[in-house]
Amino acid sequence: MKGVVLAGGLGSRLSPLTRITNKHLLPVFNKPMIYYPIEALINAGIDDIMIVTGGNSAGDFLKLLRNGKDFGLKHLNYTYQEGEGGIADALSLVQHFADDGPVCVILGDNIIEGNIRAAADEYRAQGKGAKILLKKVPDPQRFGVPELDGSRVLNIEEKPSVPKSDLAVIGIYFYDATVFDVIKTLVPSGRGELEITDVNNHYIRRGEMTWNELDGWWTDAGTFDSLLLASNLVAKTGANNL
Ligand code: DAU
Repeated sequence: MKGVVLAGGLGSRLSPLTRITNKHLLPVFNKPMIYYPIEALINAGIDDIMIVTGGNSAGDFLKLLRNGKDFGLKHLNYTYQEGEGGIADALSLVQHFADDGPVCVILGDNIIEGNIRAAADEYRAQGKGAKILLKKVPDPQRFGVPELDGSRVLNIEEKPSVPKSDLAVIGIYFYDATVFDVIKTLVPSGRGELEITDVNNHYIRRGEMTWNELDGWWTDAGTFDSLLLASNLVAKTGANNL
């Protein structure tokens, strides 16, 4: 399975920090933010990785990450998203890289304490469809929120004002190659983006979505509060270390 780190977008919620550089190059405790999702993939045994970047300072990703040698990789792949068309728009750019195989997609501002190796193994055994990871959070209205019926996920709502559960769909997703056909059917949401939640709802309607609850802490780092929280969590326990 190949890995994809989505690090496009303008990071406007972190302005002015992101006025002259890319959100994913900002520090989270002692490393640039993008190191954490790359390490999360590598810890799960995924070592053929594509970085999708965009916006400010795209060239700085090459200077920072080079060919991935510092991570023990033989090679890193890069592509560029024009504009801020949304997470699903960024994902559409990796169709050629995926080469009809499954992908593990991680958002460039998502940081986890633990390891997604078991989820990756379960998804490989699943063979088709998609898998999402869920985590209990105090502020579900900031995220994609699932409605569950026992072990079945019925629907996901993006940033609902009245959440149907206290769970967030975290920014780590497993998809088969049909994801690129799904993305071609999407229309932009109210915020003008192709939403990953719409992709996930397609798989749910097809009866091809599974989910796991994530062990260990999880946070995004895309707001001032969550960026500070991420740094404090990493300083306390480290990331990608269970
Ligand atoms: O963090 C998990 C949440 O991420 C999910 O619960 C939501 O369902 C999902 O929509 C997303 O919500 P956000 O609104 O927080 O996503 P944000 O716009 O901050 O983008 C997250 C990352 O996705 C960002 O760090 C880089 C990548 N991205 C985003 C956009 C809009 C791209 O690569 N290109 C884009 O155009």
